[in-house]
Amino acid sequence: MKIVRARDFEAASRKAANYIFSQITLKPDSVLGLATGSSPVGIYENLIAAYRRGDLDFSGVRSVNLDEYVSLGPEHPQSYAYFMQTNLFAHVNILPTNIYLPNGLDEDAAAQCAAYDRLIHELGGIDLQLVGIGHNGHIGFNEPADKFVKGTHCVELTKSTIDANARFFPCEDLVPRKAYTMGILDILQAKRVVMIACGRSKAKILMEAITGPVTPAVPASILQLHPDFTLVADEEALSEL
Ligand code: F6R
Repeated sequence: MKIVRARDFEAASRKAANYIFSQITLKPDSVLGLATGSSPVGIYENLIAAYRRGDLDFSGVRSVNLDEYVSLGPEHPQSYAYFMQTNLFAHVNILPTNIYLPNGLDEDAAAQCAAYDRLIHELGGIDLQLVGIGHNGHIGFNEPADKFVKGTHCVELTKSTIDANARFFPCEDLVPRKAYTMGILDILQAKRVVMIACGRSKAKILMEAITGPVTPAVPASILQLHPDFTLVADEEALSEL
């Protein structure tokens, strides 16, 4: 594991964006595993800026997102498909046919999850997976549990996650209670994993995930076992380490 310390969110975003920048530069047809939430927003801004400068070309890039809310379609402003369009895809030259997220409108959970795992496999696996970390230690929507789930699956979101994500919705009642998420093995099988974590509110869980036991009670702790895992974090998030 490599830990990259950054002064603040802006610096962390720049440093983490550099990993994706070099990934795409070295392998223009990379399969990127992407994340939503507040943590990667600065990374995407840096990638858009690099594209506008003419330094980055997304035309060969394929992307698979970690997760999507069940019941929200891509037109819904709080869906992760919509988030990715507004925060990255609409501003770079990635081909729409190379963008993949779980289909939140598919009511057949088993078929949707199997199809997503098949897709990742058919793409040849993920070259670089970007993740954030939830306050309860989740990665993707792999919530704390008594066992790790390997493949893409449908999860019941925990109260902690619903509360944390309510800030993006007009009210908490509108936060979907279920999501499709890549599983732990999908994430672990990525060739490289880069986590971005910023802010004091992430300090305690980051310490548990990085220095504590590997346990499904803190899903992010499994990343300690990944052979190419980089944590990019600001000083506040690293303050308990
Ligand atoms: C989002 C995702 C989540 C977030 C996590 C942190 O696609 O998979 O695991 O990375 O909830 O969210 P933020 O960055 O908003 O603190």
